[in-house]
Amino acid sequence: MTDITVIGSNMFELTTYTDRMPVQGETIEAGEFEMGFGGKGANQAIAAARLGSAVNFITMVGDDEFGQQQIDNYEQNGISLKGVGTCHGSSGVAPIFVDPSSDNRILIIKGANEQLTPAVLDHQIELIKNSKLIVLQQEISLETNYHAIELGQKYQVPVLLNPAPANDHLNIDYVSKTTFFTPNETELATLTGMPTTTLDEIKAAAYSLVERGVQNLIITLGSKGALWVDHDHDEIIPGMKVKAVDTTGAGDSFIGSFAHYYTDGEAIGTALRHANQYAAMTVTKRGSQKSYPSKQELPALLAQYQLQKV
Ligand code: ATP
Ligand code: RIB
Repeated sequence: MTDITVIGSNMFELTTYTDRMPVQGETIEAGEFEMGFGGKGANQAIAAARLGSAVNFITMVGDDEFGQQQIDNYEQNGISLKGVGTCHGSSGVAPIFVDPSSDNRILIIKGANEQLTPAVLDHQIELIKNSKLIVLQQEISLETNYHAIELGQKYQVPVLLNPAPANDHLNIDYVSKTTFFTPNETELATLTGMPTTTLDEIKAAAYSLVERGVQNLIITLGSKGALWVDHDHDEIIPGMKVKAVDTTGAGDSFIGSFAHYYTDGEAIGTALRHANQYAAMTVTKRGSQKSYPSKQELPALLAQYQLQKV
């Protein structure tokens, strides 16, 4: 049995590190440039695989120079290639701009990710139904995600939906069929139309979704950690104090590592604590996947930050 099937996007990242963003019509010189593998689906798949999960990744790459590099990257990280398809055209690409405060601005050009249709999933039923968890994000079409949720229900495989990037057309009826729903504060505001500036506002928005049938809401709060809300309780899982240099892909590392720890048998609260630790380590390094430690690398990194084992 596969531990986790991630259904989603991949992007080739073109990252510029700059002291400031140019204003309209202005040209300025930036400090550094790096390329790397990214995309929310791929990042989550890689995080889980580096921690030791058996991961299937259902995704589409283009037949351009980036597509084969993506496939090689999955293979090197031990991800099954059975769900990876190639189509004619360009792969997904993400120009990213990171400022000195570690914040980022990201553009995505979906390319081949547009070809990850519901019909593609129908060719991957065996992979999907033999998984412990299906993991979804929103860099592919909502229709494909809805179909994945239906397949999860049909084959009794729990589904985690990470609604990133935000899409205000997301149908909450489908969300209530998932086991885990993991927006950040901004995505929560988009979905509920409610303010999410203070913790009280975030809780009110979260409970409005629980009342509509959402089972486990996990709201990521950046350096503050995460809030877990279900029908019976709400609980803050505090973040770790680290020096952040680049938060790109932090949310994905949190989701991928949570998926790993949860399918490895941990209780939800414990898996969230471990995911907070894993994600905190990733913001101390540049890039998204480049910053994701393996199971073997993690203990030494945590020790550097003197984090307690939870
Ligand atoms: P992104 O879109 O940049 O991937 P996100 O908005 O989806 O991120 P965040 O809430 O910013 O997600 O971060 C996800 C998780 O990463 C947090 O819940 C926390 O565990 C960890 N994290 C993020 N930023 C920091 C930080 N500065 N220090 C420590 N941990 C962090
Ligand atoms: O969540 C971060 C990811 O969003 C980056 O890897 C970038 O490629 C975009 O897909």
